[in-house]
Amino acid sequence: MPEPHHRFLRACLSLPTDRVPIWIMRQAGRYLPEYLAVRKQAGDFLSLCKNPELASQVTLQPIDRFGLDAAILFSDILVVPEAMGMGLSFGTGEGPILEHPIRSAGDVDRLIVPDPTRELDYVMQTIRTIRTALADRVPLIGFSGSPWTLATYMVEGGSSKNFSRIKGMLYDRPEVLQALLDRLVSAVTDYLNAQIRHGVQAVQIFDTWGGVLGHDEFLKFSLESMCQIVAGLDRIGPDGARVPVILFAKGCGAHLERMAESGCDVVGLDWTTALGQARVRAAGRVALQGNLDPSVLYASPERIRREVERVLTAYGAHPGHVFNLGHGIAPDCDPQKVAGLVAAVQEFSFGGAHR
Ligand code: CP3
Repeated sequence: MPEPHHRFLRACLSLPTDRVPIWIMRQAGRYLPEYLAVRKQAGDFLSLCKNPELASQVTLQPIDRFGLDAAILFSDILVVPEAMGMGLSFGTGEGPILEHPIRSAGDVDRLIVPDPTRELDYVMQTIRTIRTALADRVPLIGFSGSPWTLATYMVEGGSSKNFSRIKGMLYDRPEVLQALLDRLVSAVTDYLNAQIRHGVQAVQIFDTWGGVLGHDEFLKFSLESMCQIVAGLDRIGPDGARVPVILFAKGCGAHLERMAESGCDVVGLDWTTALGQARVRAAGRVALQGNLDPSVLYASPERIRREVERVLTAYGAHPGHVFNLGHGIAPDCDPQKVAGLVAAVQEFSFGGAHR
């Protein structure tokens, strides 16, 4: 199989690169004035997600502005529960609202496993539009939420602080939660395979809420369903290239070895894990992505540069590092600071003999 030439794809496959690639979780979004202008044009966030032309425009905004090494599809993890039949809206300032929360086995039974080329066809159209607009400048990353993370929104009915309803379900009615997770495994596997068929060149599974689970509960109720998805993915794209799979589970650094055995190519880490030790623990089985604390972007440009150097030095002169924040960029981030961050990664990691 031919080796990819893009440094992001090469790093995902632990191949040598000229320098460390960088992209940023939630890189298209509210901290960019040009994003707010396009969202206004679309009317609201969900309408923007469903408009392939405008969603493609905002996908490219951070690429044009900062020269990042990968683009990520502009969409949201919650379009899958919506396509399964749950009403979805985004109240201003309140976060997402899922209209008919899942509380019983009957609620799970009523969920459909969507045909991604029907209920989620607008995402497939967006992927095609972005690939044309990118013209192979950088690779396009597709994504989905993990079954556990999607289930938290579906059971709680929105964002949650203490996850009381889904935790109650986990301990008292584990068979209901398991039925929901099984249905999500099918939906997410079909959805990511459709994204791959339509042209995404890597995929990331976001397990934003894996870290709220106990040790054994994470393995049983989150990692297990992610492993099933990884096993069901078509790892070769329509152009014959390998499609790397990234698992990002926030607050789950303790489970790195288990995640590395999932069959994924890259494990994404947040900033609570020591990156140098993580590389040793991964033992060459996977590449690593991360892991600058997003709050470093509130610091001075000089301090940001020092912290970038610290992350790069911690990983060291080895292949298989994708620079990223340890979680999504904050809406009140100053875009100038991001420009400084990208420049620092480019400068400090350039010409490492090994990469
Ligand atoms: O990374 C990117 O630039 C691609 C787009 C993207 C969005 N959401 C756009 C978005 C991606 C990859 C996501 C993933 C996502 N969505 C996650 C997992 C990653 C993470 O950050 O933990 C989660 C948990 C969601 C669910 C979600 N979407 C919530 C809880 C909210 C409301 C809170 C918030 O951040 O606003 C959203 C809305 C959302 N998704 C926005 C954007 C740009 C803001 C909507 C707006 O413009 O008002």
